[in-house]
Amino acid sequence: MAASAAAAIVSPFKCRLFPSQGFSGSARSFHLRKNQKRTVRKAVITAKIDFKPPPYSLDALEPHMSRETFEYHWGKHHRAYVDNLNKQIVGTELDTKSLEEIILVTNNKGDLLPPFSNAAQAWNHEFFWESMKPGGGGKPTGELLELIDRDFGSFEAFVSEFKTAAATQFGSGWAWLVYKANRLDVGNAVNPHPSEEDKKLVVVKSPNAINPLVWDYSPLLTIDVWEHAYYLDFLNRRPDYISTFMKKLVSWDAVSSRLEAAKAQAAEREREEERRKTEYEGENQTESEAVEMYMESDSDSSESE
Ligand SMILES: [Fe+2]
Repeated sequence: MAASAAAAIVSPFKCRLFPSQGFSGSARSFHLRKNQKRTVRKAVITAKIDFKPPPYSLDALEPHMSRETFEYHWGKHHRAYVDNLNKQIVGTELDTKSLEEIILVTNNKGDLLPPFSNAAQAWNHEFFWESMKPGGGGKPTGELLELIDRDFGSFEAFVSEFKTAAATQFGSGWAWLVYKANRLDVGNAVNPHPSEEDKKLVVVKSPNAINPLVWDYSPLLTIDVWEHAYYLDFLNRRPDYISTFMKKLVSWDAVSSRLEAAKAQAAEREREEERRKTEYEGENQTESEAVEMYMESDSDSSESE
């Protein structure tokens, strides 16, 4: 991930998602400022997005996902996304940001900036490797299973919906299980206004590099349905690849941990919003009292004259 750099250069532009971090605008303005920063910060840049390996050996998922697939998919495709991203962000104001921040900033409300696709693909692949484990598949337990039953009707109904999403994503892309508790007023969100009904599990699919972070959803599980993910093992039989993923590879432990983290994040956001609301109301009340005191004081002095 991004490492430290010398004092940040303050941009005159403001990012809606990260207003204090000052990055937004068109691809054109990005290039202009990118070139400007290079001359100023060249000597202090140490930023680097890591190229992380899967959390198991490259042959650990055989026979369901071959070592050869990993050698190409992780060793070449994933590596290329990370290498290209590092080339794109070096010397820019993005080089000290986390991968997640780079994705949100460069999504630019759907008007993608140049580093977006490599950043999102780097994140998606890391998330995908960690969505699987040797001896995976089967069925989740505990709260995750309870929420799946609540929001899809049954585990079997969820599996069917997830498989359909993965199979029907036209061309390259991804299918996701997400916890939808979006809070941010982002222009490209399906439902930017939060409500109690939003706190549920949903299945979504996304084209190319897009991931649900840009809709402010919390991803829990994903499957890569780019052809490079399955062609060596399944040729063009995408449905067989999807079935094998669900039956033999999914790490429900990882999905459960992500659900726990997503719920904790949603709760923390609510507490933060409540704190802000209370502070805002307190400030308004203080201002209102000050005005009343001023008016009373003004009235008293008039009477004495
Ligand atoms: Fe991929």
